[in-house]
Amino acid sequence: MEFSFDVDALLPERITVLDQHLRPPARRPGTTTPARVDLQQQIMTIVDELGKASAKAQHLPAPITSASRMQSNRHVMYVLKDTSARPAGKGAVIGFLKVGYKKLFVLDDREAHNEVEPLCILDFYIHESLQRHGHGRELFHYMLQKERVEPHQLAIDRPSPKLLKFLNKHYNLETTVPQVNNFVIFEGFFAHQHPPARKLPPKRAEGDIKPYSSSDREFLKVAVEPPWPLNRAPRRATPPAHPPPRSSSLGNSPERGPLRPFVPEQELLRSLRLCPPHPTARLLLATDPGGSPAQRRRTR
Ligand code: ACO
Repeated sequence: MEFSFDVDALLPERITVLDQHLRPPARRPGTTTPARVDLQQQIMTIVDELGKASAKAQHLPAPITSASRMQSNRHVMYVLKDTSARPAGKGAVIGFLKVGYKKLFVLDDREAHNEVEPLCILDFYIHESLQRHGHGRELFHYMLQKERVEPHQLAIDRPSPKLLKFLNKHYNLETTVPQVNNFVIFEGFFAHQHPPARKLPPKRAEGDIKPYSSSDREFLKVAVEPPWPLNRAPRRATPPAHPPPRSSSLGNSPERGPLRPFVPEQELLRSLRLCPPHPTARLLLATDPGGSPAQRRRTR
């Protein structure tokens, strides 16, 4: 993926790590330095274009990766550039991998709910002309080392069939633990739950925990009725003055506002601990007409 500016000078390393500040990396000595604001604009352009290309490759209606979404989330983006010999050119970007920690409620193989905060694979894209050349593996491997996680400790946000094949081929990840949300976890997730290398914020009181942190992809979907017991709140007589943003179909992430008034959280958490997931919740997901093969695979 080429740009009108000099990618090679902008991203001196083969893999650049970007966080919510989208800071341009330090330039090589001897390289002319344009204004910092221009460099940041160039970084933002790269992030936006990569996000668009990834959405197109996954047939998503809108990008889930953009400069503005990066700035408003604590995600980390690994960007891979082309270092092949092109002395006269301006370089190119091959692809990216976006990860982030998310608070999730996941089911184990006995269908009990567990509150976890794993590193999640949120978006992953290698340029069409360069797929199946080992670039995806290079990026993934680099990310695993940097984040100090094992592949089976990851949660994957609605993986595409290509990503499932990729994970199977390179990391022997095959057997999934069925979930009622959009995240896929693999066998071994619970057996090897080491505390993440990254320091987590102090655990909040139970009352603060929001069930079913939402997938980053949820904003792409029309909101639907949340599954039992999340839908037990009394109905409003009149619609709210400001309708909530289109967000999660299954609840909220800690950063997002509630879709509708929910059952008091203490009561909800008690219900979650006591009860297995309701068949309606599974049916709701299993019959989603827009569901990808990956979604169908991991919902019963
Ligand atoms: N069809 C089937 N399997 C594929 C394909 C494909 N077109 N492309 C890659 N794979 C899998 C296979 O297992 C392949 O091994 P094989 O060639 O022996 O069959 C393996 O990946 C190749 O490994 P790499 O070359 O390291 O992977 P690549 O550089 O192609 O990157 C990626 C993998 C990111 C999935 C890339 O194919 C891609 O960008 N696909 C389109 C976008 C996409 O689906 N992204 C994942 C979205 S889901 C999410 O991000 C949570």
